[in-house]
Amino acid sequence: MDLFERILQDMGPLGKHYEYSEGYFMFPKLEGEIAPRMKFKGKEMLNWSLNNYLGLANHPEVRKADADAAAKYGLAYPMGARMMSGNSDEHEKLERDLASFVQKESSYLLNFGYQGIMSVIDALLRRQDVVVYDSECHACIIDGLRMFVGKRFVFPHNDIESCEKQLQRATKLVEETGGGILVITEGVFGMAGDMGDLKGIAALKKKYDFKLLVDDAHGFGTMGKTGAGAGEQQGVQDDIDLYFSTFAKSMASIGAFIAGPKKIINFLKYNMRSQIFAKSLPMPLVIGAQKRLELLKTKPELKENLWKVVHALQDGLRSKGFNIGKTSSPVTPVMLKGSALQAGHLVKDLRENFGLFCSMVIYPVVPKDCIMLRIIPTAVHTLDDVKFTIEIFEKIKIKLEEGAYSLEEAPVI
Ligand SMILES: Cc1ncc(COP(=O)(O)O)c(C=O)c1O
Repeated sequence: MDLFERILQDMGPLGKHYEYSEGYFMFPKLEGEIAPRMKFKGKEMLNWSLNNYLGLANHPEVRKADADAAAKYGLAYPMGARMMSGNSDEHEKLERDLASFVQKESSYLLNFGYQGIMSVIDALLRRQDVVVYDSECHACIIDGLRMFVGKRFVFPHNDIESCEKQLQRATKLVEETGGGILVITEGVFGMAGDMGDLKGIAALKKKYDFKLLVDDAHGFGTMGKTGAGAGEQQGVQDDIDLYFSTFAKSMASIGAFIAGPKKIINFLKYNMRSQIFAKSLPMPLVIGAQKRLELLKTKPELKENLWKVVHALQDGLRSKGFNIGKTSSPVTPVMLKGSALQAGHLVKDLRENFGLFCSMVIYPVVPKDCIMLRIIPTAVHTLDDVKFTIEIFEKIKIKLEEGAYSLEEAPVI
């Protein structure tokens, strides 16, 4: 069969929806400055869909640092891969500051989190090693593991008993192969907002010999006393052997880093293929990240505001009987009963008639009869935004239960 013909017959699990959802449910264009109020199709929306947790995306000091660095260096400098010709004092300063912020000895910058963590996993492992990982790990971890030819054992999400069973299997296996064990989980799971049970996994270190890699994309800057993440929050930051985070959430930018023991980071620096063979982060991103990190450290009010909004939103929703699952982070999933078709009508109603924009998650990410509306509060939302949103959610819940969204046709967008 012709390859392109086959592709056109099966556009993939998301691509199959493109004809009726493109530009509205998928690939929507939010316009205007990044803020709680943005425009969608010309209409102002109260926007709860961005991981701009600390509101740094449009912070005046951040905007100025980004613009000044772009004016001074342009977007090219430094040219080449870090290893060849793309290194700078600013890159290395940022690495020292990031390492100290997450309480690790050393860190290394990654161009993108996704490819970065894939290469961390790829570089760390040999055929004789064994990986034990949480079933809900992010796609970038799964893709990293796709390159790994050794054995991997998955445990059901946050099920520490199963994790221990898999560690027993892994321990037996590496006794034969002579390899090592890597456990991988996340600090905060970005869909449902619950934390990885880092404390539970750390406790297993007393019985089993393994190293722990944590993707803390959603915990960095939002969790823990200083913002050092989910490990700090659970009192086990030291048990995280390799700490990963992206700049795509709290830092409101692009880039990522991996932190851990100096010699291991040095090994990664010389062995991560997606970094060795790719251009280094441009200076505006590096200097912009330094400014963001400085604000994370010196403006605790950003995190305090975030949590004020989070508590008001989550307590408010719970008190009105909404199911927001097990979240213990700012990520706020609202679970409703309904089909994917109903979800489409409901979200259209939210946007067109109530001016509220949030992401919707449907099957296969959640069960078939479940609609998940994912609300991401930020430090720049207000308590009035929260009040307004809870009122609207109460209205749409009633409409959903009364069948207002039970139409047979897909929503016209
Ligand atoms: C948990 C998690 N890990 C990794 C990534 C990938 O990071 P990046 O956007 O820097 O590629 C994301 C998404 O941004 C994420 O949510």
